[in-house]
Parts: sequence; C-alpha cells; structure tokens
Amino acid sequence: MAAPVVDEEYLKEIEKARRDLRALISSKGCAPIMLRLAFHDAGTYDVKTKTGGPNGSIRFEEEYSHGSNAGIKIAINLLEPVKAKHPKITYADLYQLAGVVAVEVTGGPTIDFVPGRMDSSQCPEEGRLPDAKKGVSHLREIFYRMGLSDKDIVALSGGHTLGRAHPERTGFEGPWTKEPLIFDNSYYVELLEGDKEGLLKLPTDKALLEDPVFRCYVELYAKDEDAFFKDYAESHKKLSELGFTPPCILSATKSKLKAILTQGAVTVAAAAALLILSYLFEIGKNME
Ligand code: HEM
Repeated sequence: MAAPVVDEEYLKEIEKARRDLRALISSKGCAPIMLRLAFHDAGTYDVKTKTGGPNGSIRFEEEYSHGSNAGIKIAINLLEPVKAKHPKITYADLYQLAGVVAVEVTGGPTIDFVPGRMDSSQCPEEGRLPDAKKGVSHLREIFYRMGLSDKDIVALSGGHTLGRAHPERTGFEGPWTKEPLIFDNSYYVELLEGDKEGLLKLPTDKALLEDPVFRCYVELYAKDEDAFFKDYAESHKKLSELGFTPPCILSATKSKLKAILTQGAVTVAAAAALLILSYLFEIGKNME
C-alpha cells in the first residue's frame, strides 16, 4: 500500500481526529486498551527483516486473533467510527495517534506525533509480542529485535500505570496501580513496594527488579516522575515510529542540505572575493 501524502489537508484531518479521539477516550474511559493497541501494532517490528511494526496490520483477523492480542478487537472496533469520519488517515497513523492521545488525556507526557505511516495487509507471524510469563532474557530478546534498548524496555513497561489485566482475556487479573486511569510513575513505586493485595505484577514486571540495569531505571523513575515522563515520551515515540521514516525527518534532511549548500555558497563567495582582492592588490602593485 502507498504511503499517505502528508499535505496540509492530511495534517488538518489528523488534528480533527485528535480531537475526536480525546472525546472518545475520555467518554469511554478506554485509554488503557488504546495504549495497548498502539503497542501491539508497533511491537511486532523486526529491525533485521524490516517487517511488522506500526502499520495497521493488527486490524486483520489473522493478527488480532493471536493469543497475545486477546481483547484488542474492542479497541479496533471503538476506532472504526473515527476512521470512517477521517478516511484519509491510515489505520497505522490512527492507532498510533490513539496511543499518544491515551497517554495525554490521562495526565501523561506529551508525545511528539508525526503522521505518514503506511498501511500494510501483511500480518507478522504469531509470537513477536512479549510473553508475560517469561523473564529478563526474553524481554531483551523481544525488545532488541524491535531495535529498542534497556532504557526503552523499562520506560515503556511504565505503560502499565494504565489499565488492568482481564482474566477472561489473558488469565491475569487486576490493575498495576491504585489509579489505573491516571498516567503517572506509580507503576514503579508499586513495583518497588512488592506484592500487595489487589495489585498485579506480571513475571515480566518483576523481571525489571532482577536485572541491575533495569532496576536502576525502576528506582530512578519511582523517585523522579519528570525523568520517567521525559524518557517515556522518547521511548514511546521510538516505538510508534519503528520502521517509519517520518516525512519531517525528510524535510529536516532537506533543510540541512540547504544549510550545507548555503554554507558552501558562502565559502565559494568568500574565496572569490579573496581572489578578486589579491588580483586588485597585484594590479595596484604593478601600477606603483
Ligand atoms: C514488557 C512486556 C509486556 C508484557 C509481557 C505485557 C503484557 C500485558 C498483559 C498480559 C496485559 C493484560 C491484558 C488483559 O488481560 O486485558 C497487559 C495489559 C496492558 N498493557 Fe502490557 N505488556 C507489556 C508491555 C507493555 C507496553 C510496552 C505497553 C505500552 C507502552 C503496555 C500497555 C498495556 C496496557 C495499557 C494494558 C492495559 C490494557 C487494559 O486495561 O485493557 N504493555 N499487558
């Protein structure tokens, strides 16, 4: 499928969709599942084969019926009216925009969103998303395959500050924090405080305490929410742009190129001026 043309009209549609998403997510209280949808569409990326990623392929039954996507169809269906209202916008952009808005309306950091993702009908094979029953090496294997880092793993796991597990979907139960509709650093605070009745810790959450590198970030984010918000916004942007070259990067490249060319022109002009000056100097000398 072709990449959307990100012109002024497309950008206007994105802004309208953003408003519709704010209203939808606030009125339905569905921020958690929107964030999970954004992660599950993007998190299939394979940096080596350049397959999967935020390309909207999760809208197909072949993919949303994967075990790890249990319940995700709810989010896909909730977004259909927004897609129908803004048909120009790709599913890939819409799902990532919904993730960004979900974090924003629940009090989280503002995440830079650049549109232009292309839709794909190519579904990745099952097994690319993390398995909650596994540990440290599995987390690294899955996130490194996406091209992400240890810091990204810990910062993005903070997405579990929102929402809950549903036993009928995944067999796990309960929220990670006392306020599952508020995006803050309480996921890390609770993680460090240990098991508590009514609050969930997946084996992959607990793994963040076992590894010294992961643990360092957990401790930092638990005591410094600003550090968490800063890192989370960066990691979320990376996740939402896996395998995607944003058009603004292209224009940034263009403006860089322009700057280089301008710099080059200045150098040429300076050299020419120097040449003329020395020529005039020579003439002056000959006339003496
Ligand atoms: C690190 C590996 C991860 C594992 C193993 C994992 C696993 C899970 C599981 C088992 C659930 C429960 C689903 C249900 O029963 O409804 C869940 C929910 C959720 N996950 Fe993750 N997840 C991971 C990373 C992430 C990331 C990176 C994000 C986003 C940045 C995220 C966002 C969410 C959200 C918001 C929910 C709540 C959904 C709801 O309330 O409906 N997760 N995750």
